[in-house]
Amino acid sequence: MSEEKTGWPRLPDTTQVFAESAKDGRSIWFIGEDDDPANLLTEAGVSPDWLKANPVTGRAKRTALLAGRDGDLAGAALGIGNGEAGEPCGPSELLVGKLAKSLPAGNYRLATPEGAKAELAAIAWGLGAYQFQRYRGKGEDSPVPRLAIPAGADAQRIAAIVEGVWFGRDLINTPASDMGPDDLEAAARLLAKRHGANISVTTGDELLTKNLPMIHAVGRASDRAPRLLDLSWQPASGGADLKTVTLVGKGITFDTGGLDLKPAAGMALMKKDMGGAASALALAHMIMALQLPVNLRVLIPAAENSVAGNAFRPSDILTSRSGRTVEIGNTDAEGRLVLADALTLGGEANPDLMISLATLTGAARVALGPDLPAFFCDDDDFANSAARHGDAIGDPVWRMPFWRGYESRFDSQVADMNNISDGPFAGAITAALFLRRFAGNAGRYAHIDLYGWRPSSKPLGPKGGEPHAARMLMNLLSEECAS
Ligand code: BES
Ligand code: MN
Ligand code: ZN
Repeated sequence: MSEEKTGWPRLPDTTQVFAESAKDGRSIWFIGEDDDPANLLTEAGVSPDWLKANPVTGRAKRTALLAGRDGDLAGAALGIGNGEAGEPCGPSELLVGKLAKSLPAGNYRLATPEGAKAELAAIAWGLGAYQFQRYRGKGEDSPVPRLAIPAGADAQRIAAIVEGVWFGRDLINTPASDMGPDDLEAAARLLAKRHGANISVTTGDELLTKNLPMIHAVGRASDRAPRLLDLSWQPASGGADLKTVTLVGKGITFDTGGLDLKPAAGMALMKKDMGGAASALALAHMIMALQLPVNLRVLIPAAENSVAGNAFRPSDILTSRSGRTVEIGNTDAEGRLVLADALTLGGEANPDLMISLATLTGAARVALGPDLPAFFCDDDDFANSAARHGDAIGDPVWRMPFWRGYESRFDSQVADMNNISDGPFAGAITAALFLRRFAGNAGRYAHIDLYGWRPSSKPLGPKGGEPHAARMLMNLLSEECAS
């Protein structure tokens, strides 16, 4: 349905959870494990009697509301333990996200910490405050707590990062009934319009004439046509000698498994199979809003892996854009097929860096669980930077190898390769190897196999969609592309 009718897709507005000024704000104090906060807090106006009756400790995640001498709410204390948040993994500032949901409505300011820590705390606040509102409470929004942007923090950066994540979450949380390939296109068009980016879209049978046959094969059984979204952007200051970064995001808007149908439990969450596309678009928003000096291209193969008489079948042999033929061992290994054609296309322009983002395998989740995306890259320095940036902000990744010893598992008797590997082992690695075969022309290639979903509410966000690795990549690319 069109944007005019529903108001969706939309770019989120995070100003509702941030206050313009720190004036009149109640204070939030971070209390460490070894701190004795009584003096500090009483000097700041907290009632000594209250503190006697309700001692404040720095145990991690412990939150306390504090009464002033007049009995009114004076502020809140947040226990930060030894400075590590524990969960989410990362610095303790991230725990502020918890307060964004639990404090009474009103304005707040951070009494501590300062500088970069305060900026990360403000981002965490924004992330923790997110709610998916599309299908609920058409009435007025109930008032929420607001945090003043800390002095010296980059308000634009905070907003761009929080908006990007909210946008990605909205896309994932929207069920497939309202998030088909057409709706994903509408979302990408909206983003492009906002930032003055170019977008071109190849839809339906045109995928065949433009030589993107595997995207067509995977998506043709749905009554919503498959398509390739191709967005490109350069900063206002021009892009002639900037590095080119191409993001390729898996946009399977629902994965039934195709004819090798998924069982109910495996299908239940498959509206999130466009999580890689959501991460790519979330990151694209951050990059464009903050004018990162980079030539950006985002490729999203958007398709629904459906069941119908014209569906592609096990044992079919597809010819990929690269010319190599692929025997279908299982139609549920569809992500690698659509990504292969998009990666081939992306590689044809020889980008300096190409990154695929995808909810690609259940095996990556068996290995690392839902919170920790698997990161593949042959470049040690790049992989180490990714891990370091992720850890610093609570958006971690863990490296896994492109282990070439497993390449032979794709051997096929009848085609150049099969789309599934022989045997049950190392499914995340073999899927990554499959993709790498098609990404050959990029200067560097990295692949991230992510879950795209938070299974239960945590300080950094509620249960639901999560555009994993977008924040990490924003910081990583800011460092890589600084000019
Ligand atoms: N979208 C799934 C992978 C997935 C499943 C991600 C569950 C997160 C949670 C993907 O298309 C898929 O079905 N992969 C198969 C591959 C297999 C058929 C080789 C898988 O992982 O089981
Ligand atoms: Mn699948
Ligand atoms: Zn899938």
